[in-house]
Amino acid sequence: MSEAQSPTSQPEVRRLKDLNTLVSLSKRRGFVFQSSEIYGGLGSCWDYGPLGSLMKLNVKRAWWNTMTRRSDIVGLDAAILMHPTVWKASGHVDGFSDPLVDCKDCKTRFRADNTESYLTKKQCPTCGGKNLSEERQFNLMFKTHMGPLEDTGSVVYLRPETAQGHFVNFQNCQQSSRYKIPFGIAAIGKSFRNEITPGNFIFRTREFEQMEMQYFVKPGTDEKYFEEWKEARKKFYLKYGIREENIKFKEHDKLAHYARAAFDIEYKFPMGFSELEGIHNRSDFDLTQHSKFSGKNLEYFDEASKDKFIPYVIETAVGCDRLFLAFMCDAYREEVTYSKDESGKTSEDVRVVLGLHPDIAPIKACVLPLSKKDELSVPAMKLRDQLAEDFDVSYDETASIGKRYRRQDEIGTPFCITYDFDSINDQAVTVRHRDQMTQERIKISELNAYIAGALKRF
Ligand code: GAP
Repeated sequence: MSEAQSPTSQPEVRRLKDLNTLVSLSKRRGFVFQSSEIYGGLGSCWDYGPLGSLMKLNVKRAWWNTMTRRSDIVGLDAAILMHPTVWKASGHVDGFSDPLVDCKDCKTRFRADNTESYLTKKQCPTCGGKNLSEERQFNLMFKTHMGPLEDTGSVVYLRPETAQGHFVNFQNCQQSSRYKIPFGIAAIGKSFRNEITPGNFIFRTREFEQMEMQYFVKPGTDEKYFEEWKEARKKFYLKYGIREENIKFKEHDKLAHYARAAFDIEYKFPMGFSELEGIHNRSDFDLTQHSKFSGKNLEYFDEASKDKFIPYVIETAVGCDRLFLAFMCDAYREEVTYSKDESGKTSEDVRVVLGLHPDIAPIKACVLPLSKKDELSVPAMKLRDQLAEDFDVSYDETASIGKRYRRQDEIGTPFCITYDFDSINDQAVTVRHRDQMTQERIKISELNAYIAGALKRF
């Protein structure tokens, strides 16, 4: 009996153990590739492939819709290059740096503030040597020049966070949308940091995308909104399928100069619980600084109370790439079933499944004709086109049907749709569900509505 006809015994489930499993799946199936691979790659830069680019859009859409479909948040798409004074005002020119140490023996360069062997024994993390340089501050911003002259007057920075775009557009957004405080600005965009020790695949890179929201509130109400946003962000992760045991809040021991409170939402990556998102109470620091440096009054006038004040800001900031990785880690599972042959030897069969939430899965359905012959492949392709009007879909006619199901399981496709010889007469197809492996016969004319409903009910 095929697996699709009879999903009887419960398989043993193995979860992801190391990132290498995901790195190789990502390359093999087209999620993520090393940047400039044919030239030997460029450190800590990654390209999102055919499936990865679709999935990344889905991650962004999930975040964007959650934020901007609220009645109190507007969207923004600010430029990466900003006036250089922005970064003076924000504190990044003077303070956005990490302490760096070089090992003079093996040439390893590492961060002094989070390298265990250095903090405890003043030793190099690679060779254990003690022939180390002094600590020196290394600014993480990428510098470049605007225009043809490379002099100090033309220096601009690739933004290290999207947040400053929100602050400098605070009045533009508030006045054009006529929103009253409390209200928020949400944006998704690339940020750049010249990290000393990038690594762990797409977890820490030098070019990455951020999804940040700044919520502007009246001073005195900030603590209440800070708590509300902590809860709202946790709900978001649970809604999109992250298992509750894999996330936790961690309060910062040391607060940044601008912060009144700061929590990380940590995710249990294979290398351990690590920051996924930051939630910060930034007080009125940023708007006050930009008022000072620009000479513009950024006070808000509250018509109801006739008060004027610089709003406080509650910030939620998550890396899109890091969330992509968390979704992959959480979704990955191996379902193992055992069987014995005639000689009594046990063998195992492993079904790799990315159990992604369907909103996040890159492909929603794959059409599989039972045979490659024109009589099935031509109408099956037509069916693919019918579904593509509403969903991201794919088509696969090579290899056995069982193998083709497995290919789709491994990339998280919620539905496989088999067009068989009966389909020609009954104008119906078999829909196979990724997680339960159950099957249903559905009329072709009702298929788009069926898939839409099933995705929503998931
Ligand atoms: N505006 C506040 C801010 O940028 P952050 O904690 O420095 O705060 C927010 O960054 C989020 O951006 C992090 O929680 C992480 O998800 C992501 N992020 C930061 N640096 C990153 C890097 N080098 N590579 C990938 N993601 C990064």
